[in-house]
Amino acid sequence: MRVPEALLPLLDGGVIHDVIRPLMSGKEADVFLVEVEGDVMVAKTYKEADNRSFKHRADYTEGRRVKNSRSQRAMAKRSRFGKEEIEAAWRSAEVDVIYRLSSAGVRVPQPYAFVDGVLVMELIRGWDGGPAPRLVDARLTEQEAWDLFHMLLQEVVKMLCAGVVHGDLSDFNVLLAHDGPVIIDFPQAVDPAHNRNARKLLVRDVRNLQSFLGRYTSRLDGKRYGDEMWALYEGSELRPDTRLTGRFQRKEVRTNPLSLLEEIEAMEAESRKRREDLGLAPRRPARTPVQPRPATPAPPPPEEPAKKKRRRRRKKKPEGAEASGPSEPIDFDTSDDLDAFLSED
Ligand SMILES: Nc1ncnc2c1ncn2[C@@H]1O[C@H](COP(=O)(O)OP(=O)(O)O)[C@@H](O)[C@H]1O
Ligand SMILES: [Mg+2]
Repeated sequence: MRVPEALLPLLDGGVIHDVIRPLMSGKEADVFLVEVEGDVMVAKTYKEADNRSFKHRADYTEGRRVKNSRSQRAMAKRSRFGKEEIEAAWRSAEVDVIYRLSSAGVRVPQPYAFVDGVLVMELIRGWDGGPAPRLVDARLTEQEAWDLFHMLLQEVVKMLCAGVVHGDLSDFNVLLAHDGPVIIDFPQAVDPAHNRNARKLLVRDVRNLQSFLGRYTSRLDGKRYGDEMWALYEGSELRPDTRLTGRFQRKEVRTNPLSLLEEIEAMEAESRKRREDLGLAPRRPARTPVQPRPATPAPPPPEEPAKKKRRRRRKKKPEGAEASGPSEPIDFDTSDDLDAFLSED
């Protein structure tokens, strides 16, 4: 095959000895099978910023340190030199994380070399000896899904103990090797000690795994492994061998109603997706996002008489009444309702 330009310096420099074939073109990178000293390995080349789809990069790069203050300043100003430095930092973030995780005993591909922005690493092999399939392509039994979830959760615990939150963990970035799952694809990984989005990203990572594997087992329903893990981490009580239960009781009262609403909407979207995947009709129409109430209510338009405000009250259940079906969704019509909901906790 024609050697891709990005791999020419590696071939010329003798880092790799042959390019066998393209393996996969992902959203962020092109991955090739290459030959190194008679062995088959993987070379990952990164797409240029314009061809990439990763959104909100600043949410991930916050708190990252670069080698010198000149680069730091140029990156902040986003000059041409600065943009090149940003690109270089994005590429080298993955190799840094992979080395760190591999020495912490996390199941990631063994890195081999990082040359001219190309990462050469171990080829993860499946049961047939060929490139391993992704988790998204697997068909699992209930027990396999449960076991796989717990193996992956333990890897996420080990990663957090090693100071890494993946940030894009999903059934697309887990490979099923012959000896267990392996986690890949780290350029967006964040350092939980320096990035304010780390908790959200960690909880989302765990939720992604839970919602994919939860299609095969209902035993993961309602579990809050991500929140539990983060609380232990924040309290310096998380260890690489900590076993999580999925039970989590929030201690403090939330003060940000909008982020609570975002979480409720995310949970509803997840449940809708699960029903879709199972071919079931949606349970009820999607909630209309609630707008925050302006500080001073606007006066009604002069020609229209002001509408009487309707307050929705929850019906009191008669004593001894049996619960009948799922409870009604709570509508936050007014911020009074929201206050009441928050203080229920
Ligand atoms: N070390 C590896 N061994 C086997 N397959 C790999 C390896 N690394 C990547 N791949 C394959 O290449 C695909 C894309 O790689 P990935 O690192 O996820 O990049 P992207 O950011 O483009 O998603 C993966 O889904 C996987 O199928
Ligand atoms: Mg990927």
